[in-house]
Amino acid sequence: MEITVAVIKEKKGPFTFEKVQLDGPRPNEVMIKITACGICHTDLAVRDQIYPAPLPIVLGHEGSGVVEAVGDEVTKVKPGDHVVISYGHCGKCPNCLKGSPSYCYNFLGLNFGGCRTDGTHAHHHGNEVLNDFFFSQSSFGTYTVAPETNVVKVDNTVPLELLGPLGCGIQTGAGAVINSLKPGPGSSIIIFGAGAVGLSAIMAAAATGCTTIIAVDINPFRLEFALTLGATHTLDSRQSDFAEVIKAIDVNGIDYAVDTTGRGEVINAAIYSLKSKGICGIIGASPTPLSLDANYLVGKGLQLKGIVEGDSIPDVFIPQLIALFKAGKFPFDKLIKFYEPADINQAAEDSEKGITVKPIIRFDLLNENAS
Ligand SMILES: NC(=O)c1ccc[n+]([C@@H]2O[C@H](COP(=O)([O-])OP(=O)(O)OC[C@H]3O[C@@H](n4cnc5c(N)ncnc54)[C@H](O)[C@@H]3O)[C@@H](O)[C@H]2O)c1
Ligand SMILES: [Zn+2]
Ligand SMILES: [Zn+2]
Repeated sequence: MEITVAVIKEKKGPFTFEKVQLDGPRPNEVMIKITACGICHTDLAVRDQIYPAPLPIVLGHEGSGVVEAVGDEVTKVKPGDHVVISYGHCGKCPNCLKGSPSYCYNFLGLNFGGCRTDGTHAHHHGNEVLNDFFFSQSSFGTYTVAPETNVVKVDNTVPLELLGPLGCGIQTGAGAVINSLKPGPGSSIIIFGAGAVGLSAIMAAAATGCTTIIAVDINPFRLEFALTLGATHTLDSRQSDFAEVIKAIDVNGIDYAVDTTGRGEVINAAIYSLKSKGICGIIGASPTPLSLDANYLVGKGLQLKGIVEGDSIPDVFIPQLIALFKAGKFPFDKLIKFYEPADINQAAEDSEKGITVKPIIRFDLLNENAS
């Protein structure tokens, strides 16, 4: 069938809209009419070729939509179901079988390969190769197909256009707290970076009973905003009395830290803010190797924990986040600004400039216009 997609054709180039052909679903695949798709920094990192997925490509990995058709072997969903599409994982390797699908042995190919693992595509643009299956979904379009594995059925009483970012950025921040660090009630936690991922971590910390929640950023508006989402303290990472302020909050330091900035000096500040036996979760994409004081880590018994996708099992965790949202304990809708498809490049720029925390593109507007 003919669909409309946003394509990145060249490194650092704009999203351009193209009419392309989409194949129907294979036996293990689901065809989805896309309602909306969030923009995550990983889309922009591929646009800029910091992550080397092949171009031209249909990006988008925070899709939500309605099941249009299913392949013969699909049992999880049926046409009409509301779904969120999350990251690709094989479901069969040892890590998938042990309940850690974000460390799937096939993660790279399934998320950044630019095609199915057998090398085929579902999107076709004349004789040109059009790379797809980005995060096993390529959701910047009016329709897509995705394997059943990463399609998550969701509560159809919640507005579907809000839900796509639960498939990546929001589950990453919330999962880092709820699934990875698991702070007990009354714990203290410090979150570096108050963007989509960090603010989700702050909301999760508040929802799970942390009583000291320190938001750190360099953007004063984001720090103000963090206070409305559960942060109890805010700090600018550049302020000269940073260490003294932490000591004034707790002379022994903080129980848990989360870094979403990927910056070496910030990760070191996160480590130095911890109390003995503290744990620092690392989420942000780092452009350079990290330099660490190993003696300090040893002496304090500290742990560093790399975290992909919030250690979440999407079929389990996304419904949990929706339940918290419905209970008023995880107001992630406050992070969102909707954009029309024609404004997708503006949405990307607003996200990079820190104007919008989580942009979502309403592809249902194109579907409405087409029908
Ligand atoms: N590990 C994963 O599975 C995973 C998943 C999704 C996103 N990510 C990564 O997480 C990171 C954060 O994503 P996001 O969407 O929240 O990005 P974002 O740009 O919305 O947020 C980053 C925040 O860090 C702040 N910041 C920048 N420099 C700082 C400094 N020196 N000190 C303190 N704060 C500083 C920025 O002002 C911004 O608010 C990105 O690198 C993204 O690629 C990782
Ligand atoms: Zn992402
Ligand atoms: Zn796997």
